[in-house]
Amino acid sequence: MESGKIPQHFIDDLLARIDIVDIIASRVKLKRAGHNHMGLCPFHNEKSPSFSVNQNKQFYHCFGCGVGGDAIKFLTEYEHMEFVQAIEELARIAGVDIPREEKPQDIERNKQQRALYDLLKQASEVYYQNLKSDEQRDKAVSYLKNRGLSGQIARQFQIGFAPEGWSHLKDALEAKKAPKELLLLGGLTVESDKGKVYDRFRNRIMFPIRDARGRYIGFGGRVLSPDEKPKYLNSPETPVFHKGKELYGLYEAKLANRQLTRALIVEGYMDVVVLAQHGISYAMATLGTATSSVHLERLFKILSDVVFCFDGDNAGRNAAKRAMELAIGMLEDGRQIRFLFLPEGEDPDSLVQKEGKTAFEARIHNATPLLELIFSQEKEGIQFDSLDGKARYARAVLAWIRQLPLKSLTRPLAIKRLADLTGLDEDQLTLLEAEQVAKRGEPAVTAPTQQQTSHSEDNSAPDTGVYHEAPYRETRIVMPATASKKRSTLSTAQKLVANLIRQPVLLDQLSLDSNLQNSEDGDLQLLFEVHRLLTERQKPQSEPYLTCSWLHDRGLKDALSPIEKSDYFWLPKPGTGAKASDWILAEFETNRTELAHYLPDLEYLHLKNRMTNHTSEVTDAERKRFNELVITRKHRRAR
Ligand code: UTP
Ligand code: MN
Repeated sequence: MESGKIPQHFIDDLLARIDIVDIIASRVKLKRAGHNHMGLCPFHNEKSPSFSVNQNKQFYHCFGCGVGGDAIKFLTEYEHMEFVQAIEELARIAGVDIPREEKPQDIERNKQQRALYDLLKQASEVYYQNLKSDEQRDKAVSYLKNRGLSGQIARQFQIGFAPEGWSHLKDALEAKKAPKELLLLGGLTVESDKGKVYDRFRNRIMFPIRDARGRYIGFGGRVLSPDEKPKYLNSPETPVFHKGKELYGLYEAKLANRQLTRALIVEGYMDVVVLAQHGISYAMATLGTATSSVHLERLFKILSDVVFCFDGDNAGRNAAKRAMELAIGMLEDGRQIRFLFLPEGEDPDSLVQKEGKTAFEARIHNATPLLELIFSQEKEGIQFDSLDGKARYARAVLAWIRQLPLKSLTRPLAIKRLADLTGLDEDQLTLLEAEQVAKRGEPAVTAPTQQQTSHSEDNSAPDTGVYHEAPYRETRIVMPATASKKRSTLSTAQKLVANLIRQPVLLDQLSLDSNLQNSEDGDLQLLFEVHRLLTERQKPQSEPYLTCSWLHDRGLKDALSPIEKSDYFWLPKPGTGAKASDWILAEFETNRTELAHYLPDLEYLHLKNRMTNHTSEVTDAERKRFNELVITRKHRRAR
């Protein structure tokens, strides 16, 4: 996405250009009725149409649940797009480009960034040239030869050399009129306490790091002899270099493959380069940090097959576990995420040198898909032939399944697979899964959650350029930014209660006209109750503390207590930068979607249980409702 604000006049023009009826009719079935178009509301359950689209006013409105707005609002609500994304979609339909307003400080920043890209490119040229002509070049050339690299691959990756000495690079760049401050800003030089400025990288093999567009953003430098420390020195974070987001080798992989379809994520610079030397030109490495959701999202924008490669030792297994936790929430339909474990004591570099391209690619080919790995890993240590063991296994696997993206078809398929494996009833498993989400306190045996509270900060910690040997393996994989969601032990319904108390303006946006009012689920009952009370309250008081005590007076003290005690309720903490209202709004959206996803399942299963167990009288209306649910479930599965 481009930077810069989209001018309001453009948005107005855009809305005037497109027709909201086209936008909505391509997603919801509409029928003309006078000036309006009518249809079944996509935002709540209904049998007769109360959703109307007004062509003259270019507005939609639902008389049933009260939602309404313009085309942008519709896309953000219906497609869960971000505001800017919705505008991009409309601009695409209208066939126009989006102009951006650049703020003065942005202009300044962009200028500085361009200067840095330029400087880093020059630095890379100097390092590369050193490998050809510096008087110390021999030791560097023979090091690279010893590691099996050809001149051609060195050129492809622009591998270079920083000779021994305090100011080789500094002198070379300053001779080309590069400002001193820029060198410091770009992390190429370091200033001592006494104010002496010298080259950061000395006597090292230099790996330039380029972003996905090929711009030079930083360096990794490796020592030539084993007794020097640290083994790898990386550029610090700079205005153009953010370790937690970039992948070493991505640009080179794009260059080498006309159509890049797969990424192999390995640990080190050398792994990437040596694999490329052997014709495996789609390896990339994180930069001494953990794999993050940013990394994965970036990759999935351009390709759909990601293979994580780990050493076969314990550290590798632990790292893999974290990668699994990160990846499961990103396994959308059409994406493939697999895991490859190398034999103990090998890394990709050593192994590909030993066994060659074909054998190594066979390993990649046979890498284990994420879900397979979950199905087999959770079996470990479980007495699978006992009934109890099967139940434990089912719970453990379900704890993973429920973290799959909500709309993915993999979800029902995985449940079916689990039913086949355990002999448990598929409907019962769906119920269990829905309950795990809707109810609190059923974290399955090895629920892949928690831990990690402190790790997510590691990425942003200031980098001293010094590498600490022990901890980095432990922190290779960080949880996605939404980890707080997983860390919370509140159920979805409880979270929605928290959202509503913190931000009562959201009350209108939650429609709860489902038959589940009378469900046995305490959290759901609480949600209905809080929603009803707050809606009826004369003056919606927005101070959460007062709202809570107002609700206490109405008999909800005990029910609210776990929510008020949770961290979640008080998030985001002051000083986190995010605007609280934005965060709550985003959470609210997620929770609402999650609830909407589970309500029909819960309702279906409760009704089914009542009908089959004859625990209480089932009314005609309920039977009708049950049939509807059966039909929508069929549709959903067929989709
Ligand atoms: P390894 O030590 O496994 O590197 O670190 P490697 O690629 O196998 O190195 P060679 O084969 O000895 O040259 C893997 C990655 O961890 C980061 C680097 O990104 C490295 O590529 N790392 C490692 C550091 O940042 N600093 C270090 O001191 C060591
Ligand atoms: Mn290695």
